[in-house]
Amino acid sequence: MASVDVASAGSAVAAGSAVADFVVVANRLPVDKKVDADGNITWQRAPGGLVTALTPTFASRTGAWVGWSGVADADDQPQIDGIQIHAVPLSSSEITDYYEGFANSTLWPLYHDLLAEPVFRHDWWETYVAVNRRFAEAASTAASRNATVWVHDYQLQLVPAMLRELRPDLRIGFFNHIPFPPFELFSRLPWREELLRGLLGADLVGFHLPGGAENFLTMTRRVLRAETSRDPVGVREEFGTVQVGDRTVRVGSFPISVDSANVAEQASRMTDRAAEIRTELGDPKTILLGADRLDYTKGIDVRLRGLEGLFAAGRLDPADTVLVQLASPSRERVDSYIEIRNRIERTASHINGKYGTVTAPPVRYLLQPVPRDELLAYFLAADVMLVTPLRDGMNLVAKEYAASRSDHGGALVLSEFTGAAAEMADAYQLNPWDEQNVMDVMEQAITDDADRRRARMAALHREVLTDDVDLWSRSFLDALDASAR
Ligand code: ADP
Ligand code: F6P
Repeated sequence: MASVDVASAGSAVAAGSAVADFVVVANRLPVDKKVDADGNITWQRAPGGLVTALTPTFASRTGAWVGWSGVADADDQPQIDGIQIHAVPLSSSEITDYYEGFANSTLWPLYHDLLAEPVFRHDWWETYVAVNRRFAEAASTAASRNATVWVHDYQLQLVPAMLRELRPDLRIGFFNHIPFPPFELFSRLPWREELLRGLLGADLVGFHLPGGAENFLTMTRRVLRAETSRDPVGVREEFGTVQVGDRTVRVGSFPISVDSANVAEQASRMTDRAAEIRTELGDPKTILLGADRLDYTKGIDVRLRGLEGLFAAGRLDPADTVLVQLASPSRERVDSYIEIRNRIERTASHINGKYGTVTAPPVRYLLQPVPRDELLAYFLAADVMLVTPLRDGMNLVAKEYAASRSDHGGALVLSEFTGAAAEMADAYQLNPWDEQNVMDVMEQAITDDADRRRARMAALHREVLTDDVDLWSRSFLDALDASAR
């Protein structure tokens, strides 16, 4: 059975020449290579929701994973039980132009409603094309005849068409893990046509929500003058189609989830540690928790300002409240990430300076990834989980928190601007753009009647245990199987 526990990832020699009939292609491998000052190599779980969601897919099937190891010019391969790893090397200038540049300074802000100003540079685009071609070639090498290849996310939107050209025998699916923007935003891209044609190389293009699928259909109609249809089938997957010559590309929505049963089981072993955390924090009346990659989309500043507002208005007692913010470093050389980090750190330290004491600051902030077990223990310790993005394709933290709370304790505060909000009606939902509403909803989640809080968490827990990541991958792969070649 596949596992990406750090313990099972060793440094090894080149990938075997074996080919697989199921291949995942993603910008990142499930593990990241870390090299310390003495040159020692370790492999750690890679950051982000994509790896969290895709790893369990390999529990029930064997296959290959094509991706990048997270560092420049790496030529070694991690060995992971049950997954054939094909590491795609990137040079440091490709990391600058493809990953930090086109993927995360052009596409990421544009697809997230312009939360930062997107930068349009033709040299970044050229590197994006070249790197996408390298991924397509690696996928072509990894795939057996008639294999199923599942390409992921905005970093690799050209891969489906490139791969189809190299290997017309393959069945190709594409899934976008972030929002897909409306016409008014997407059409700003000088390369909008190329990106759409790249995606249309797939047999099935999937999004989290029907809105993303609709936006994509509209784009292909308006930019490419393609013939499209809208053909809803079933409750979960709403399909449309795009006609590309004699091929029919299906388009649908598949809301991603987490490995809920596993999260619940792992969390159930962390109750002692959760109690210990509460004691370590000084046994406050209320523990609030945030856990995110440090990204400007996540609204970490929103929740800090909400907390400050509640303290300032005397609606929450700083002596009895602790907010733990676990932030995992992300895209650290990109300007907009440096800016948001400075803003968060300034606000956290301002709150502590104004409302804390030397021994009891109300905000505890960590800028390092937390081991999985420890993160689950924090989930159990938290009275209120704060998930407050300004925009997020889905947000798996919200679903992990609900899955971990088999005790039906805790409460989930959730931004309306996450994909998860569409399914998690029993969360305390807020509008992160409305400071008053942020304070009101945070306060409500903290002070609500105990029975109501339990009933809401029970409903969230039940739902996430049914709608798990296995259902997501099965529904996508079944739809891909059924789609025309
Ligand atoms: P994104 O993909 O944008 O990072 P998601 O919420 O979908 O956002 O997924 C984030 C994943 O990273 C989750 O599996 C979550 O548990 C994990 N995570 C978030 N914060 C931390 C942290 N501080 N340390 C370790 N893992 C984290
Ligand atoms: O889920 C969105 C996403 O960008 C994934 O594609 C990615 O793996 C994850 O967030 C983390 O981002 P990065 O790979 O840039 O660290």
